[in-house]
Amino acid sequence: MKIVVISGVPGTGKTTLANLLSSKLDGMVISLGEFVRERDLGEEWDADRQTLIVDEGRARNALMKEIERLASDITGWLIIEGLFCDVVADAADFAIVLRLHPRELRRRLRERGYGTAKVQENVQAEILGTCTFHMREAIGTGFMDIDTTNLDPSEIVEIILAVLEGRTSSGRHAPGKVNWLQDPGIDPLAHFGTGGSGA
Ligand SMILES: Nc1ncnc2c1ncn2[C@@H]1O[C@H](COP(=O)(O)OP(=O)(O)OP(=O)(O)O)[C@@H](O)[C@H]1O
Ligand SMILES: [Mg+2]
Repeated sequence: MKIVVISGVPGTGKTTLANLLSSKLDGMVISLGEFVRERDLGEEWDADRQTLIVDEGRARNALMKEIERLASDITGWLIIEGLFCDVVADAADFAIVLRLHPRELRRRLRERGYGTAKVQENVQAEILGTCTFHMREAIGTGFMDIDTTNLDPSEIVEIILAVLEGRTSSGRHAPGKVNWLQDPGIDPLAHFGTGGSGA
């Protein structure tokens, strides 16, 4: 069994991509959000943020057990997608963080009906590259940090397959290349509780 983990802030397209990649690779997907909910690994409900606060240690232990269990059954690909899947990235053969221009992310999250605070929090996380930072802490620089802005899911899958199959190197998508803070169109202050219309 080979494992791919796909991280990224909410709305960057992890679930969409994991499902498409899984159909191309004839693999299996674990969505961390569902995994945590089904096993009751949410520590507590954060009413302000309308979200579960997950115990990452417990989530990692449960996931590692599940990976071990599946490894004896599955010979193909296991794709694990979710906001904090860096917790098992050290067990993966391949790790990806999906990035999205903050302006497009904000649009998608608003379209989902997220409230202002939740949109702002996630857009801030993307501007700061929080998921990339956590992935780097977990496994160093050996992962792809893909700017998905203006790419269709099928184009992103093709980029990933080309690297998985050894047709291209992952260099073009090395972590550090996406840096929204260098984008002159982005005003970080607009996303840090100072008001303004933002990116
Ligand atoms: N490459 C893409 N181009 C345009 N729209 C996309 C792309 N990928 C996903 N989307 C759309 O963006 C929205 C969010 O996608 P998705 O649910 O896959 O994100 P996610 O990262 O899994 O979010 P969450 O962390 O909240 O589960 C969906 O409406 C989806 O159709
Ligand atoms: Mg999802």
